[in-house]
Amino acid sequence: MSSNVRFVVKHGGRLHGRIRVPGDKSISHRSIMLGAIAEGTTEVTGFLEGADSLATLQAFRDMGVPIEGPDNGHVVIHGVGLRGLKAPGKPLDMGNSGTAMRLMAGILAGQAFESELIGDASLSKRPMKRVTDPLGQMGAHIETAPGGTPPLHIHPVGEALHGIDYTLPMASAQVKSAILLAGLYAQGETCVTEPAPTRDHTERMLRGFGYEVHTEKLDAMRTRICLKGGGTLRGTRIDVPSDISSAAFFMVGAAIAEDADLVIEHVGINPTRTGVIDILKLMGADITLENEQTVGGEPVADIRVRSSQLKGIEIPPELVPLAIDEFPVLFVAAAVAEGTTVLRGAEELRVKESDRIQVMADALHTLGVDAEPTEDGMIIRGGKPFQPQQGVIDSHHDHRISMASAIAALRAPSNVVIDDCANVATSFPTFVELVRQAGLDIEVQHD
Ligand code: S3P
Repeated sequence: MSSNVRFVVKHGGRLHGRIRVPGDKSISHRSIMLGAIAEGTTEVTGFLEGADSLATLQAFRDMGVPIEGPDNGHVVIHGVGLRGLKAPGKPLDMGNSGTAMRLMAGILAGQAFESELIGDASLSKRPMKRVTDPLGQMGAHIETAPGGTPPLHIHPVGEALHGIDYTLPMASAQVKSAILLAGLYAQGETCVTEPAPTRDHTERMLRGFGYEVHTEKLDAMRTRICLKGGGTLRGTRIDVPSDISSAAFFMVGAAIAEDADLVIEHVGINPTRTGVIDILKLMGADITLENEQTVGGEPVADIRVRSSQLKGIEIPPELVPLAIDEFPVLFVAAAVAEGTTVLRGAEELRVKESDRIQVMADALHTLGVDAEPTEDGMIIRGGKPFQPQQGVIDSHHDHRISMASAIAALRAPSNVVIDDCANVATSFPTFVELVRQAGLDIEVQHD
């Protein structure tokens, strides 16, 4: 990325009205992937036209899948069946997206052609052995760079992969999904046991495509998910709900701003994603769900948030994987909350689009907040007025750091300046427009 996109966010503001944030990123990726390898046509509405999910869409076009759109979130995928993908003839660029690269590795592991997955500077540093190890156990042949990072060179294996019974070493929906997607191409049964619940959009969507997936709860935390290879996915209709991870910026914003009352419409409230609601409620936030319904196998609701005095809490460890993408903005909530908030067991944050523990601690320090990064989390002593230091927040090209820092301006005594905000377009291309509509003033500068 050549030029710097800088946000200059006016301090203060009230969030009011009704807004609709863009489609869910996780579901958008999966709609293209499963639609492409299904038999027949899949029609998607509410698709997220962000750089991440567009990278997935382009990759399947590069493998010969006819895809119409996106046009206002409307995409039509003419599926080519499990065995219908064609050699791309060039590296597939996953941009900034860990989800795209890891899930694609699962699909590509079972193909009869060679492929290469590449990414931007951030993605090129992220750990891939977590997927290439289990895929290797299934018989896949995938090379990484020496540190276990991208690019991934995926060699055809000649014969089918074989199923495995794999216990995830970490709670990761991406790894679970990569193995299950490879399992579609494997002989016999593939099973994955997760140590704690993680987002289950892959399992739900596979069922929506008529594919049998067996899920068994082993105890309070562990779930075992199994499927058999060689079946058929049948094209379907998918209505992608609004992304709760994007809604989270507005939820925290309305909770911490003075005199706020905001409704975020049609948000996906899949129970494997609602950790942010539970954590904010434990902190004393005034959140109500209205108009709850199920749309295309996923629960949705309008989320109403009004200002409240938040208090610091110890974040329950079981909620960590259910709010994993929301911690940058939850740290902002903790900075405003009276008392101390402690997060533990979140070491995964260190290997996201940036090291979100260190980068958010630095951002909060710039705002004059008492934040102590730890190996696996953060201790934030909140409730005191921010005392901003001289300086600009460096978002390290991480979309969620940029947006979380912008939300912090609602309680800052002076304007907040954030560098490297171009990647907001990966998950939330209309963030600036919507946040302005709701009542926070952002100026975007290019230099
Ligand atoms: C995702 C899973 C999560 C999340 C990411 C999207 C997915 O990653 O952080 O933004 O769509 O499966 P992990 O599964 O690696 O925790």
